[in-house]
Amino acid sequence: MNKEKKLAPVSFKQGTGQFISTVITIIIIYLIVKMGIPFVTRKITGMGFPFPVPGALMIIFMVLTTIVMFIYITSSEVRLQEFLAPILKLLKGEYGNKTRLITLTIIPLIFGFNIYSSTAPKVSTPTALRIQHPSSNFPKANETLKNPLRNPADADVDKFIEEVKSSHVEFIPQVKEDVERWKGKNPDSHILGFIPTEPVQTLLKELKTGNISRERGRAALIEKYLFEGRALFAMNCRPCHGDSTAGDGPMADGFKLRPINFTDTGTIDTIVEGYTFWRVTEGGRGLPVEATPWDSAMPVWKTDLPEEYRWRIILAEYDLAQKGPREPEKHEEKKY
Ligand code: HEC
Repeated sequence: MNKEKKLAPVSFKQGTGQFISTVITIIIIYLIVKMGIPFVTRKITGMGFPFPVPGALMIIFMVLTTIVMFIYITSSEVRLQEFLAPILKLLKGEYGNKTRLITLTIIPLIFGFNIYSSTAPKVSTPTALRIQHPSSNFPKANETLKNPLRNPADADVDKFIEEVKSSHVEFIPQVKEDVERWKGKNPDSHILGFIPTEPVQTLLKELKTGNISRERGRAALIEKYLFEGRALFAMNCRPCHGDSTAGDGPMADGFKLRPINFTDTGTIDTIVEGYTFWRVTEGGRGLPVEATPWDSAMPVWKTDLPEEYRWRIILAEYDLAQKGPREPEKHEEKKY
């Protein structure tokens, strides 16, 4: 009892220091989380945009800050008294009756307004369904675009046949190491021997007879493109679209707008190949407004993958999904 009597007058005289420093600490921590962290991430990543702290994390940070401040203040009776002093003074009218009236009116109004604005029904435009295959800014030239690797030109096939004959088949740099390692372990085999599919194995049989037809060469060349395309798909697309292209890669669950499941009917089999090429080239950023409300996380690939690589990947993507691209409709002549 004695102790309480002693403490009260002392702390009441100490002014508003504890209260103000508590408020300032909370504001500083808020600013660090809201602006400091995005600023630092921008410096670290060197990208043109900051990474904001997600709202849920923000709430966790601020609740933790409040709990820590509460424990800090209540762990000492002096601090608690000091913290409460300005509040009690205000309530007793020691700062003047007007100040008390204004404060006690404004605080409930702020809380009331917040609750009102979060619960009151808002006037908003009707929800529009997302259009998965928007076409408003789809370049017209792409409509008739074909994957050049599906039907390699004679010159490319002939060059490939020459390469096969001299056993110096050129691969893209990304797979070279693997191919060479295989060759190291199988020195007696032809470099293409590791591709087990029928067109390649038949080609190698024909090679022994010394007579390779252009059609065999073409079929095997497509298999080589497919092999390279699968490797590029695994390196670049698998994290989101998954091994089997079912949209279940390790990163897929992180997106509100999930990566497309290409094995589903109604995805890549309903679009012409020039459309797929456009989507891969421009990514989510290239989509027009009717593809919102959720922004697509699909990256822009034109900056990282040259055109011939994108075509290889698309070849592999359709093959892995066991789908074919939509063929542009032809005008049928009517017979009367
Ligand atoms: C960061 C994750 C991510 C990566 C990596 C990624 N994608 Fe996507 N992709 C998505 C998401 C999410 C969508 C669905 C939203 C949309 O339509 O843009 C999508 C959509 C697509 C579509 C559109 C399908 C359709 O039916 O309209 C194609 C085609 C596609 N991706 C191909 C690829 C290819 C090829 C690669 C690799 C070169 C790749 N993606 C890498 C996330 C990714």
